[in-house]
Amino acid sequence: MTLSPQKLRQIAEWFSEAGVFDIISEQNAAQKSQKGISTLAELKTAMAKVNISLKECALNMVFGVGNESAEILFLGEAPGAEEDKQGQPFVGQSGQLLDKILNAVGLDRTKVYITNILPWRPPGNRTPTTEEMTLFRPYVLKHINLINPKIVVCLGGTASKTLLQTNESLSQLRGRFFGIDEISARIFATFHPAYLLRSPSQKREVWMDFLRIKSLL
Ligand code: URA
Repeated sequence: MTLSPQKLRQIAEWFSEAGVFDIISEQNAAQKSQKGISTLAELKTAMAKVNISLKECALNMVFGVGNESAEILFLGEAPGAEEDKQGQPFVGQSGQLLDKILNAVGLDRTKVYITNILPWRPPGNRTPTTEEMTLFRPYVLKHINLINPKIVVCLGGTASKTLLQTNESLSQLRGRFFGIDEISARIFATFHPAYLLRSPSQKREVWMDFLRIKSLL
């Protein structure tokens, strides 16, 4: 099928109005901006400059916390209301549960590193869009490579699917180890603490997951 120049112009206009070109150019900028970054401080500065409407609704950027030489890095989805207020990841109810699970296997925040796919809270805690996840993936990879952990634990479907670039469901991914070319760490997928707050019967599975992870350190 051959499209007429007029039809092609109409399609290009439609893409432009839908903001597709803005997203692509921001994604290209994200990939280019990774090149000169060699410290967490530089990464934080580069992320703060990302041109995205998400940050207009947020109070604070939430970067990462914990041990910068950690062997294990936890990757969540995005800040919630409390994280947005305090500028720290996992400090609300989900974070309190995460702390309890860490303690149960002999870990705490001084021994691990914690960050999220998105550094700003999506309005009303909505799920991050595919464009937002794709835009921040290069920053997340850089973040992981700067910490250089042995294991990255993805908490929930958003973190798992973004990092692994898959559409498989979390129930298919949970409890399994994966590798990707961009990082040397093994990747492990488990349930998000917020899901455990809604479905406490799954806590046992997650506890078993954490015991497994701990045994590999
Ligand atoms: N949920 C997340 O995924 N990350 C946080 O930092 C808090 C809640």
